[in-house]
Formats: sequence, C-alpha cells, structure tokens
Amino acid sequence: MATTIRELARMKRDGEKIPMVTAYDYTAARIADAAGIPILLVGDSLGMVVLGYDSTIPVTMDDMVRHTRMVSRGASNALIVADLPFMAYQVDANEAMRNAGRLMQEGGAHTVKMEGGVAIADTVRRIVDAGAPVMGHLGLTPQSVNALGGYRVQGRTRETARRLLDDAVALQDAGAYSVVLECVPSQLAKVITERLTIPTIGIGAGPDCDGQVQVFHDMLGLFADFVPKHARRYATLSDDIAVAFRQYADDVRAGAFPDESESFTMNEALLSDLLDG
Ligand code: KIV
Repeated sequence: MATTIRELARMKRDGEKIPMVTAYDYTAARIADAAGIPILLVGDSLGMVVLGYDSTIPVTMDDMVRHTRMVSRGASNALIVADLPFMAYQVDANEAMRNAGRLMQEGGAHTVKMEGGVAIADTVRRIVDAGAPVMGHLGLTPQSVNALGGYRVQGRTRETARRLLDDAVALQDAGAYSVVLECVPSQLAKVITERLTIPTIGIGAGPDCDGQVQVFHDMLGLFADFVPKHARRYATLSDDIAVAFRQYADDVRAGAFPDESESFTMNEALLSDLLDG
C-alpha cells in the first residue's frame, strides 16, 4: 500500500514506529521500497555520500531534481520526500514555492523537506497552502553547519532547548506534516515528540521519536572509514564490494573470467566461410 501523509498521522496516533531511509538512485529506491520502507528521503546528504563534497552546501536544485527523479522511478509504494537544498527556499517565498514545485513536478517527489523553524514558518505555510506537504528539519541542520560552528549536538542548554521546542511548534502551526530531529538529546526529543501532534523522525535523537531515519551509506557500511555515533551498521557493503572487485580482478588476470557460460557463440560454418574468404 502506498504511504501517504495521512497514514503517517495514523501511525503516530496508533504508536506505530515509522522507519525512513535515504535513497539517491533508482536501484537503491527499488530495494528499499521492496523491503517495505514506507518513506524514502532524497536527502541533500547526497552531496557528501554521492557527489563527494565535504558538506551539503554546494548541492543545487538541479542535483536534487535529477536524483529525486531516479528515486521516484524506482519506488512504487514509499512516500518520496526530497530536500530543498541550501538557498533554494531562504531567499523568498515565491522562489521557495517554485523550487518545491520543481521537486514534485520534475522530480516526482510527494513532499519536500526544509531545514529551520520559526525563521521559515511563513514560507512553510505558503508552500503547504499551495498543496505541497512539508517535512521540517530541526536540531543539527547541516545546511547551517558554518553558522552552527560544526556538526554538533543541538539543544543542550536551556535557551537552545527552548528555541528548539518553539521551532517545532512553529513548524506544526505552519502546517508541516512531520519534523526530523537531528542530533538532539533524547530527553528533549521525547518532550518535543509528546508535545507535537505530527510525527517526529529522529536521527541521533534517541528512541522516543515517532520514527527514525538513517543515511543509506552509514547503515549499509558503504563508508569504510567513518561511522557517526547515531548510525547503526546493518551491513558492511564496502568490505563485500572490495572482496568482489579483488576476486574479479584475479579472475580476469588468471583468464578465469569469462567462461563459456558467460560468452556468446556463432555458427561454426559461417566462421569457416569467413576464415576461408
Ligand atoms: O540529507 C539528509 O540525509 C537528511 C537526513 C540526515 C535527515 O536530511
């Protein structure tokens, strides 16, 4: 059954936890969708794990539209959420609406995600009123890494915790249907989750959020050298891939690949004719 934002609201009401993963291309989307993951996030984290930048800041609207299109072609049931990248919604509300429209019309996203709280609430309201559902994103908001002074846990002081709570309520009041809480102390995430009627989706925000999101490359072990504290590895694909590549190279060098079953043949008489000629 296709996931809708109504279904997510029901899951929160019924206390059913919501799993979400990032996906950046057709193949990954097909696998995650077939595995029954109800929400796929085309995160601007693709800037780091796919495009090789050292932050999400260089990611463009064209990058997001291209990858969202790949994911939406691969998924038949999952709700597709696409990130509006840095400066695609901060300049003015009209541009934000046009860009949300691009992710949905050209990319095939069902909803968009935006980082920020009170400061973007009016823009969220305009986009929601235009018919585009919005997921918020609070706490560690990677597009503001330079303003935050690094990738660090947010909301540990009385003042920042209060601000996070106000931001969450502002997003809900503006019509957001869900909020991601990234790198927020578990106790604060629990308070926010209990305070809101819309589902919270945590990443590094403890077990009490209504759902959890993980970055594809982190959970599958595609980065050999770095695992964030909030990630759990469910596979070590970079090791498996390296083993496969080494085996393949050995087989080619030894003349063991390809064998007959992996090759094509032609009519022998035709071949003799060709050689005679
Ligand atoms: O871009 C992304 O992958 C995200 C998640 C970390 C929530 O925003």
